[in-house]
Amino acid sequence: MGNEAFKEYKLTDVFDINELQKIQDAFSDATGVASIITDKNGTPITKASGFSFLCEHLVRSTEEGLKRCILSDSIIGMSESEVTIRKCLSAGLIDAGISITVLGKPIGNWMIGQIADESFNEQEMLLYANTIGVNKKEYQKALHRVVHMPRSQFEKICHFLYLNAKMLSQFATNSIVQKEEIRLREKAEKEIKILGLKLSQQQRLKAIGTLAGGVAHEINNPINGIINYSQLVLDMVDENSKISDYMKEIIIESNRISLIAKNLLEFSYVKKNEFKKENIVQLINNTKAMINSVLLKNQISFHTEIDEVSEVTCHQQKIQQVLMNLLTNAIETLNKKYPGYHENKKLIISCRNIELDDNAFIRVTVEDHGMGIDEKIRGELFSPFSAANRTDKSAGLGLLMSYAIMKEHKGDLSYETKTGEYTRFHMDIPAGEINNKERNV
Ligand SMILES: Nc1ncnc2c1ncn2[C@@H]1O[C@H](COP(=O)(O)OP(=O)(O)OP(=O)(O)O)[C@@H](O)[C@H]1O
Ligand SMILES: [Mg+2]
Repeated sequence: MGNEAFKEYKLTDVFDINELQKIQDAFSDATGVASIITDKNGTPITKASGFSFLCEHLVRSTEEGLKRCILSDSIIGMSESEVTIRKCLSAGLIDAGISITVLGKPIGNWMIGQIADESFNEQEMLLYANTIGVNKKEYQKALHRVVHMPRSQFEKICHFLYLNAKMLSQFATNSIVQKEEIRLREKAEKEIKILGLKLSQQQRLKAIGTLAGGVAHEINNPINGIINYSQLVLDMVDENSKISDYMKEIIIESNRISLIAKNLLEFSYVKKNEFKKENIVQLINNTKAMINSVLLKNQISFHTEIDEVSEVTCHQQKIQQVLMNLLTNAIETLNKKYPGYHENKKLIISCRNIELDDNAFIRVTVEDHGMGIDEKIRGELFSPFSAANRTDKSAGLGLLMSYAIMKEHKGDLSYETKTGEYTRFHMDIPAGEINNKERNV
């Protein structure tokens, strides 16, 4: 496990501050020295325990004093392996400190001290009053109240501090390693789940494709027979007769069935690496033809707003798959909002020339006036992990796959949505030339 993942950990990620406070208070009580725990930059995260009147009410009450205190704390607490003992920059008292670490990286400092030892020199220390801007008399009075102890005793207390900090560092490291292991395991589990979902959806698509292909093939022969015989009848009857009109209708409708069957065959036949120049408008029409009956059955009106666009190089079957996914989602949300007929139960496909960062694209937009995308799942619509979390009957992979297909085309899939009002999905397909190898399909 690399150290990278641990860079940003803070003391508060690992410890309950109330518990730290209790340990710190008990330490201060037992040893008679002041104590505080700070983050790695010297900013306190616990409340001071056993602080001297001098430090708490005089030094820290001035801006300069507080600045020097924090600086002292960050310097003293810098050592990761041993306790540093030195005179503080704000009052000249003896302080000590050590870092609390995770895998050797400091996440906080434990500071103790505010004592005077054998080296105590009142005149020298009074100079600090001027430096930090505190009344000299008050400073002197407070100085007489600081704890005095021999250096040797303070060093024993420092050793006790070292043992405590070492234990906390060990605890922090264990806890973070454990958290990281759990995170990696959960990530791996989600990846496995998503792979399973992808596989089962691919198998399902393949099965539907085979079935649809078979049915379409079976339809093609008899429908050709119907068209041919209708044509024969048409040739035999009076052009102005009712029979002639009926036969013409039969031929038109049969041609429609034939087109749907042809589209189904195209859709179900899995092609490899086929990036070709395609007429995107034709592609939209073909896809629409496949869902015509679904639109009719659900009383959804369909509108197109098509600009004049040039052919694009794309994988026809995959672009059609994206369109199908978007249309299916739009139909679902429209049915949810309007179970029956409604004048706003409509679906709009537009096709426009646009420019993004000086590059030409063709933007196909699928717009519905349905429920809008649930706010809770916005922003993670194209993420495999959100799909893995979905538990309802749909796999929740449609958009994820669509996004991947658009990226494969060096294009993009984006959306705009407003709760309760509309959703627009934009498929941006590069309008320029394309190199098959570049696609890495
Ligand atoms: N046009 C839309 N309006 C409102 N919500 C939408 C729309 N499109 C997608 N969503 C929301 O996004 C979710 C994810 O869509 P996606 O197509 O990825 O999966 P799905 O439709 O749930 O399942 P699948 O497509 O795999 O059968 C949907 O379940 C739906 O909640
Ligand atoms: Mg879907």
